[in-house]
Amino acid sequence: MPIKSLNEGMTRKKVLLTEPMAPQATEFLTSKGYEVIQGTGKPDDVLAKIADAEGALVRTFVITADVLKAAPKLRVLAKHGVGVDNFDVPTATELGIQIVNAPLSNSNAVAEHTIGAILAVAKHFIWSDQETRKGNWAFRNQRHTTDLEGKTLGILGLGRIGTAVGKKAALGLDMTVIGYDPFVDSSKLPKEIQRLNTLEEVIRRADFLTIHMPLTKDTKGLLGEKELSLLKPGVYFINAARGELVDEKCLIRLLKEAKIAGAALDVFEEEPLPKDHPLYAFPNVLLTPHNSALTHGAIIRMATDAAKGIDEVLSGKAPTWPVNKLASVRA
Ligand SMILES: NC(=O)c1ccc[n+]([C@@H]2O[C@H](COP(=O)([O-])OP(=O)(O)OC[C@H]3O[C@@H](n4cnc5c(N)ncnc54)[C@H](O)[C@@H]3O)[C@@H](O)[C@H]2O)c1
Repeated sequence: MPIKSLNEGMTRKKVLLTEPMAPQATEFLTSKGYEVIQGTGKPDDVLAKIADAEGALVRTFVITADVLKAAPKLRVLAKHGVGVDNFDVPTATELGIQIVNAPLSNSNAVAEHTIGAILAVAKHFIWSDQETRKGNWAFRNQRHTTDLEGKTLGILGLGRIGTAVGKKAALGLDMTVIGYDPFVDSSKLPKEIQRLNTLEEVIRRADFLTIHMPLTKDTKGLLGEKELSLLKPGVYFINAARGELVDEKCLIRLLKEAKIAGAALDVFEEEPLPKDHPLYAFPNVLLTPHNSALTHGAIIRMATDAAKGIDEVLSGKAPTWPVNKLASVRA
């Protein structure tokens, strides 16, 4: 007689994937005996399917208190990637739902994108391409490009992505790298990065400014009118963290006034970036659809590392990458 599998005859625990993602997440969870329910990312569909789920793996779907209240069995919520700003973390914590994420999955992808973005805006890659295709060969003398060697890169947020960007910029491009992050231990930072004591000092000194901090209630709008007014004339501005960290209207005004020489934006206050948005008008702004983390390797790591966190929690193990602290996980 064939040996019965562990879950045969038992009700399998249900894990909802709120949106499409790499098939490796489903393969992993199925191999561990879970029933995987695929969601479409549409609110009605997710609300109906989450009611039975003990675990949910989420990309950009917004997990509000109402969604959590519609999920009485939910014990673990996993983020496909890092930033959990689309989750109501306090409510999940109150309900005893463990949140996990995949912090090692995409930092290098975003750091590589950031270096590419610095090069693209400084060297007018996209702009030059567009002008060349239009037949404007004279563009070569109309807009000169910028050297990176010896320029100062300011980094706000010196975590995984910020430090990776700093090292690549210093070692690969010979840039001087300064940064601000009040929460890191300077002795643990790579020697190529000099941490300064204030946000303002980094903003004032940067020839290129890049942001790599999380969006939280404390950082929302952190780069407002007052902070952006400190930017050096002719600075290049890069944001591959979150749009709501920055006052976008003010950024657009500074671009119009040519106080900012160029920008590379992967994230926006509203996503997808609405049609007719004023940012489309700037040839010196590189716009990407929040895809800095989406390399072939990273999308698999984001899905599988998050799925591993779900299995850890549902099989009673301590999660490798917990986001919230719970006295005990919901029974
Ligand atoms: N564009 C994308 O697709 C994409 C992908 C991955 C991550 N991200 C964003 O990038 C952010 C950073 O990712 P990470 O993996 O480096 O995270 P991380 O946690 O390793 O680093 C974030 C750093 O920001 C610092 N920080 C927090 N508040 C700050 C403040 N007020 N001023 C200065 N520093 C502050 C923290 O101390 C931490 O060191 C994520 O939170 C996420 O929102 C975007």
